[in-house]
Formats: sequence, structure tokens, C-alpha cells
Amino acid sequence: MTPHPPPDPVSAGPRLLTPGPSAVAEAVAALHAGALIGLPTETVYGLAGDATNPDAVAAIFAAKGRPSFNPLIIHCADWSAASALGQFSEAARTLAQIHWPGPLTLVVPRSQGSPVVPAATAGLSTVALRVPAHPVARRILETFGRPVAAPSANPSGRLSPTDPRHVIQGLGDRVALVLAAGRTAVGLESSVVDCTTDPVTLLRPGAITLEMLIQAVGAAVTGAGADRNDPAQRPRSPGLLLRHYAPTKPVRLQARDGFTPAEALLTFGPNPFLGHGARWVRNLSARGDLAEAAANLFAFLRDADEDEQTTAIAVAPIPETGLGVAINDRLSRAAAAAGEEPDA
Ligand code: TXA
Ligand code: MG
Repeated sequence: MTPHPPPDPVSAGPRLLTPGPSAVAEAVAALHAGALIGLPTETVYGLAGDATNPDAVAAIFAAKGRPSFNPLIIHCADWSAASALGQFSEAARTLAQIHWPGPLTLVVPRSQGSPVVPAATAGLSTVALRVPAHPVARRILETFGRPVAAPSANPSGRLSPTDPRHVIQGLGDRVALVLAAGRTAVGLESSVVDCTTDPVTLLRPGAITLEMLIQAVGAAVTGAGADRNDPAQRPRSPGLLLRHYAPTKPVRLQARDGFTPAEALLTFGPNPFLGHGARWVRNLSARGDLAEAAANLFAFLRDADEDEQTTAIAVAPIPETGLGVAINDRLSRAAAAAGEEPDA
């Protein structure tokens, strides 16, 4: 007995499946057929397709409305699968050893003869590789046995999905099915580290912090600033554009006062100021835990975005330490005025 009606390709539309043996088999069959699936990872849900199938890769770019110059992350079951697709420096190897499986993406030179289709890496000579830790993602990758391209499962430039329902909301029937494994644990996308530089460069902050990189390999620098501030320069990480991860409504940062009845406030910490005058207030973490705040961030921003009476979103100061760096990075992109730079 399957808990789902038999698939009808015309009218069934996207479906949320509880991950179990039959759902995993169905998801892997969909990948083999070149279809796209919503894949839970420990960071955010991915829009997953066969990285060796040009049609599946093209469908990912089309579903997201993603510019073709913005390369995808290639997900692998384990080190042995990943190391076949790229050339790992000593630093890259060390980072993989320490932090895989986990929320870390390593940019390395592509291997000669890699089966990953060039469009997936936007024609670059490098490839972004990640071995996710989520048990469902791992089971899919192991069973499928091929590399899987998976950007976050949201329309380009919008908030990443931390709940399976967000995937359906954003992408509708562009996904054949979504493996629904509840809310994601980390809540922010993986740290992206360019291992083609010496020292390595943290391109996108995430749960693996600059301090953790330095601890692992002795030295690391952050490179997002250069990418962001020079629109003329082709960004080294093309997805790291100024306005990204954005709700549709204006976002006001470092908000301490001056709240209006049209404003929703996201606050942080055990002694949040009251947000007097705001339409509503939610605390990202009342106990001041940055991991909890990261896990709540995108869902709370969505709630504010979807509330019809709210016309603007205010966010209280978040400490710039540990995961706070990644939270503030996403918030500053969410707050950048639309039109300052193209979405990606
Ligand atoms: O946590 C995550 O990383 C999620 C889950 C699904 O794994 N995926 C994700 O993918 O966030 P996406 O496509 O939304 O973000 C990938 C980032 C983009 O900023 C992209 O430009 C960058 O990685 N990237 C990919 N390939 C690259 C490359 N060869 N060189 C530099 N940056 C690259
Ligand atoms: Mg994304």
C-alpha cells in the first residue's frame, strides 16, 4: 500500500512525500528520468537534478529563473565520489576531512573528464562540491550513485526554503516531488570556500565560520566584500550578488526604535526591547542562541513577507560573531534596495 495516489504526470502536480524506502525509490527514479526533486539537506532544501544530464541541469536553471552564469553546487555521497570530480589541494583535502559530511562547499578545479555537464558549473574551470550530512540527502545520493546538482529550491534571488512547503510555494510543479523531512536544522546555506586561492577564501559565510577554517588549515581570508562592492568585476562567486535571499518587502536593519504599525519586527536575545508600535514582534532566539536564530531566520522573514498588513520588516541588531556573521550577511543582502544589482 502506498500512501499516495498513483502518479499522474498531467494532473498530479508536486507532492510532499514522507521519506521512507518507497519515497526514496520514487525520488531516485525521478532523478534517473531527468526530473527535479525537492531534497532536504541540513542547511536548506535543494532543487536536485542529475548533474550529468544536460536536460535536468537546464531544467534547474529554468525552474529557478537563474542566470546561466551562476554555477550550481554539486552534491556527492562521500569523499570518494567528490574527489573524482575535482582536484583537491592539501587545504581542500583537510577541510573535506574535517567538515564533510556537513554544511561546507569547496570550490576546486574541475577534474579532466568529469561527467558533470559544463552548464552546471556555468562553463567555469572550477566546481563547487559538497557532501551533505542530512540522512535523507545521503540516502538519495548513495542510491542514485551519480553527482546531483542542487541549488537552494527557491526562485532566484528569493529566500531559501527551510520547510518542504516553501519548496512547493516557490516552485510549484517544477518539482516532481519533495522529500518532506521537516524544517532544516541549520537554516542558512552552506559556507562556500574557494580552495583555488592560497590561503583559501570564504566566499559565502555559513555554519562553518572563518575561525573554523583558520583552525583547520592555519589561514583563510574572506572574499565576499570584494565581490559585493565592485559590480563591474565579475564576482568570483557569481551568486554572491548584493541583493539576494530577499523578501519582497523592504527590510530595515539595526532597528532599535521608530517602529510603525505597518512594520513587523524580528528581534534577538533574552532582553529584547519591546518593539513598541510595531505590528508584531517575533524573537529569533529569546535565549540569544545564534544557531537557533539562523534556523528561524528565513521562516520568520517569510511570515513577515506573507502577512498582508505588514509593509516593511525591521530586524534588531544581531551580534557579528560566530554564526551571526552569516546571519548578518544574509540580512544585508535582503535589505539591499531592489535594482542596485541584478538578482541571481
Ligand atoms: O546549503 C547549500 O549550499 C544549499 C543546499 C541545497 O546544498 N545550496 C545552495 O546552492 O545554496 P545555491 O546554488 O543557491 O548557491 C550556490 C553558491 C552560489 O553563490 C554560487 O555562485 C556559488 O555557490 N558557486 C557555485 N559554483 C561555484 C564556483 N565554481 N565558483 C564560485 N562559486 C560558486
Ligand atoms: Mg540559493
